Order: sequence, then structure tokens, then C-alpha cells
Amino acid sequence: MVVVVAIRADLAQAKILLFYVIFYAVLIGFFAGLLAVFYQTLDMKMPKWQLDSSLIGANPGLGFRPMPDTANVESTLIYYRANDKGSVLKWAQAIDTYLDQYRKKGSGSGEAHGAENRVACGPNSGSLGEKQVCDVPVDDFHPCTPNNQYNYEQGAPCVFLKLNKIFNWKPKPYNTTEDLPSNMPDDLKQHIKMNAGKPEANAVWVSCEGENPADKENIGPVQYIPRRGFPSYYYPFTNKEGYLSPLVAVLFERPRTGVLINIECKAWAKNIFYDRYERRGCVHFELMVDRG
Ligand SMILES: *[C@@H]1O[C@H](CO)[C@@H](O)[C@H](O)[C@H]1NC(C)=O
Repeated sequence: MVVVVAIRADLAQAKILLFYVIFYAVLIGFFAGLLAVFYQTLDMKMPKWQLDSSLIGANPGLGFRPMPDTANVESTLIYYRANDKGSVLKWAQAIDTYLDQYRKKGSGSGEAHGAENRVACGPNSGSLGEKQVCDVPVDDFHPCTPNNQYNYEQGAPCVFLKLNKIFNWKPKPYNTTEDLPSNMPDDLKQHIKMNAGKPEANAVWVSCEGENPADKENIGPVQYIPRRGFPSYYYPFTNKEGYLSPLVAVLFERPRTGVLINIECKAWAKNIFYDRYERRGCVHFELMVDRG
């Protein structure tokens, strides 16, 4: 009698086990099937929703490097002591790490994928081949070079700006003196006037200024290296292998030492809209250089 009950119980357990095995197998199959159908609708090389129909929109933001430690994500302060080698080195290394992708050549191991596709471009160069992308010669950004530790020791640091990548986005440049916005800084208007009509005028211009009256005084003269903007020939970004975002190095020639300076850099093109609060078309950071 006891034996029969035990066997019955075993049988019931086996049935339950079998039920669950089949149940989960069907569930996995169903899920995998739907995932496969979903993947059919995607293209790995390009986003399905682009520009205005996408969530990120068609208004690129600006970014800056070096970024402060990842330990405090909230911070946008670049603070260092010009006479302290360790302090200088910390920021120089952060820039080195970021620029590494720009320096890798060829396609051997440890080198950037698609780096062999990079060709020298200029405002007058012809159209690119199917695989070709424009090189960004970061080693020509004198004095913002690694040997010079990006000029941090001189108390005149370089900060690199880049425009965020948006698939298929093309700038509509301010390439003539017509319809320049009234809030554009005068020195930038002058710069555009000098270049109007030239191929060099096809660029997303940048400007960096102190945010408040005191900051405007403390920031001192600013230089843009190698030129004052992101040339149009780097656009559109279409996810070609080896593509590099163009960079502008902003050299703060004589920032007042020992004070915190609020800086806002803006990108200027007819299809970039500025919104300080949503951080669109601009970037904010603080700079503080100490002596001693
Ligand atoms: C100025 O930019 C427009 C695009 O917005 C372009 O069609 C035109 O050719 C450019 N002009 C010059 C002189 O390059």
C-alpha cells in the first residue's frame, strides 16, 4: 500500500516537471520569435528614427573635454594649480585619453577600426569615397598639444569642444553676413564678415564667453584652434567606420588666476537653436586656475 502511494506521488511530480519544461520551452520560443521579427525591422548601420522624428531631435548639443572626474558627475569645474606638476598632469592625461581615438592609425591590432579610411580634407577638397571619412589632425593644434601638456602649465589651458553626433544631420552655416542673429557676439560677426563667400565660411561657428559681467572680465582673450568652428565637410555623420567628430581647441590665453570663471560656449548655425536651460546648442563649464 505504502509503495503504491509513493510511486503515484513520483508520477505526479514528474508530470509537473514535464509541464514546466514544455511551458518554458514554448515561452522561450515565443519570445525568440518576436525578437527575431523585431530585429528584421532594424538596420544595424542606421537609426530607424532620424533627425526630427527621433527622440534626440535634430539640434546638436556641445560637449567639452577634459571632463572632471567621473566620481562627481555633477561637476563641470576644471580646476588646477599651474605650478603643480601632478595637477597639470591629471588634466593632460584626461585629454590624452580622449584624443587617443584620433591618433590611432591603420587597422592592426590595438588600432582604431576604420582608421585607414581617414583622409585629409579641406574646404576645397572634393567629395569623399563611399568609405572615406575626414581626418581630424589633432597633432597640429599647437599649442594645444600633448608635448606641451595642452598648455596647462603656462596657466593658459586648452579646452576641447565637440558637437554631438546626430545621424544624417547637416549644418546650415552662417556663410554670409546676412541674417546673423542679433545675440551673436561682435567678434564672431567680424570673423564671419572676413570669411563671407569663401569656402571656409561653411562651418558651424563657436563662441566662448564669460557668463556674467565679472566672468566676462576674468576670462581674458580666447583663441580658437585650428579654426573658429567645425567645418561643414565633416557632415553629415553617417556611421562610416573610422568617423571622427571635428574638434575645436579653445585656448584661454590669460584667465584671471584664483577666481572661478563661468564659461558658456555656443555653436552657431541656422539650424542650431540655443536654449541655455535645456542646454541645447551650448555648453557650460567653470574654469579656475591657481598659481602656487
Ligand atoms: C552657404 O551655405 C549654403 C547652405 O546653407 C550653401 O548652399 C551655399 O553654397 C553656401 N555658400 C557658399 C558661398 O559656400
